[in-house]
Amino acid sequence: MKLLIVGAGGMLGCDVVAEAQRRGHDIVALAGRTALDITNLSAVKACLASHRPDAVMNCAAWTNVDGAESEPEAAWRLNALGAAHLAAVCAETKAWLLQVSTDFVFDGTKGSAYHEFDPVNPQSVYGASKEAGERLVRHSLPSHSMIARTSFLYGKHGKNLVDTIVRAAQSRPSLTFVEDQLISPTSTVDLARVLLDLAADPLPGTYHVANAGQCSLLEFARFIVAEAGLSTPVLATTFAEYVATAKPAAKRPQVSPLERRMLALRGMDTLPHWQDAIRAYLICDTPCV
Ligand SMILES: NC(=O)c1ccc[n+]([C@@H]2O[C@H](COP(=O)([O-])OP(=O)(O)OC[C@H]3O[C@@H](n4cnc5c(N)ncnc54)[C@H](OP(=O)(O)O)[C@@H]3O)[C@@H](O)[C@H]2O)c1
Repeated sequence: MKLLIVGAGGMLGCDVVAEAQRRGHDIVALAGRTALDITNLSAVKACLASHRPDAVMNCAAWTNVDGAESEPEAAWRLNALGAAHLAAVCAETKAWLLQVSTDFVFDGTKGSAYHEFDPVNPQSVYGASKEAGERLVRHSLPSHSMIARTSFLYGKHGKNLVDTIVRAAQSRPSLTFVEDQLISPTSTVDLARVLLDLAADPLPGTYHVANAGQCSLLEFARFIVAEAGLSTPVLATTFAEYVATAKPAAKRPQVSPLERRMLALRGMDTLPHWQDAIRAYLICDTPCV
């Protein structure tokens, strides 16, 4: 398979490249907007015409959730228009497109894990722009696109909450995390594996791809601190208290774990439990793939 990876220098993109290399695919890794700016339609056309990939993996995105509130146009341009450009050109060149998306397309009020057929209702500029990207991809490329929604990513090639928690636990007397915000933390290594599985056995649709199980941010932080061999106390706060005190610019879903219904239906739900994924991440000093 000839695979073109956009956003190949990002946290997820790096692990997708490593996994694709491991599988022996013919890859074109485009590390950032200097390699290919997906907001530029003629550049996307020229790139795909030159490389003629069988599949395109879009790991590029505006991922600064709070920053998107003050720079909505830039977020929409990349997350919606950039995705639309890739889909339109994939339709012309008959390539598959894997578009990575987010649990932030949901409002978090369901009270339990979301599956692929639950209604979306994004609450932030980031969530709305990613949801628009999903729709534009489905519209332009209905028979050759897959949307992979994931959640709370961490990986060796980007700033992430796991590293932040370990560093904070090493330097502060105590930490405080929210006890009633529920998530599906996901390793970029495990996500990359499943994205490559999907690319090898494509079926159009939307897929939730997250490590198994779910946890509160408090459980997540306590598990990481303990696994890192530290004894720093991790205190509890509530989602409401956190929002009132930190006043984040963007609204986030309070309960947005992802149920992997489509992967389960296809017999492709191979993602390990989030605790095993954290253990694998912490024991690995260098990139794990
Ligand atoms: N991080 C999370 O917790 C999380 C959670 C759920 C879903 N997701 C989704 O997962 C995917 C990967 O996220 P990530 O955290 O790995 O992202 P990331 O580390 O922020 O990487 C994003 C990449 O996009 C590239 N990029 C920016 N503007 C571009 C443009 N105009 N054209 C082409 N490339 C451009 C960046 O490269 P340059 O800056 O060098 O141009 C960077 O390599 C995204 O779709 C994101 O929405 C992430």
